[in-house]
Amino acid sequence: MIELLEVKKAFGKKEARVEALRGVSLSIQEGEMAAVMGKSGSGKSTLLNILGGMMSIDSGVYSYDGQPIDFKNQRELARFRRDEIGFVVQYFALAEDLNVFQNVALPLKYQGRSQKEIKERVMAALQELGMEGKAKAYPSELSGGQQQRAAIARAVVKEPRLILADEPTGALDEATGEEVQGIFHRLNEKGKTILIVTHDAKVAGHCQRIIRMKDGLIQDDGHGGRPAWEGGGV
Ligand SMILES: Nc1ncnc2c1ncn2[C@@H]1O[C@H](COP(=O)(O)OP(=O)(O)OP(=O)(O)O)[C@@H](O)[C@H]1O
Ligand SMILES: [Mg+2]
Repeated sequence: MIELLEVKKAFGKKEARVEALRGVSLSIQEGEMAAVMGKSGSGKSTLLNILGGMMSIDSGVYSYDGQPIDFKNQRELARFRRDEIGFVVQYFALAEDLNVFQNVALPLKYQGRSQKEIKERVMAALQELGMEGKAKAYPSELSGGQQQRAAIARAVVKEPRLILADEPTGALDEATGEEVQGIFHRLNEKGKTILIVTHDAKVAGHCQRIIRMKDGLIQDDGHGGRPAWEGGGV
């Protein structure tokens, strides 16, 4: 599903230049659930942002379903983000002036779905996450765990094939974090491909595969150095 080949990404100029990714090669197969671990600054979020089509690459190739992504084609990139990707971040990023229903409905509105379909799919997503009773609540009226459930509902409501989560349990207590972890598991069982950036070894332990990054490189791709097509991993 995903193939990165010698992907490089730097920020800033001259003395301020930081090489966030220094030649990352990685393949992810459809249906995998992988953790991405590594020290602060090792390039995890940069990697996720690139995979989600939210950040361009300086060099190398990112192929999705065998097609190289053209980072110059803004229209196609927007479509890719809108239709293929569900993104979950640490601090939930819900719109404070919208209630839970309206927040979760947003991605479907962008897709131009009908009111009827939006209602059905939003309620189904909320139900799946045990949030149907909070449809009319505003983010400020929710606990951290509830906010993260709403954010996950928003990420999955459009049924994206790829879910990218950057420290999704980082702001949650242990029990709530485990609940959220369980939600990702269920989504993976339903066939979603999931990448979770985490510092938490327990969260990573629940994943089939652990990708370790160090200084902008993949230190261990979780396949024992063997590429997936040679029978590594899972
Ligand atoms: N927009 C940006 N502008 C400038 N430098 C950036 C930017 N984004 C990331 N960097 C730099 O690139 C490097 C990798 O950052 P990245 O956010 O990918 O790390 P990370 O592994 O996600 O770290 P953390 O665990 O702290 O979230 C860091 O040195 C960071 O300072
Ligand atoms: Mg990060």
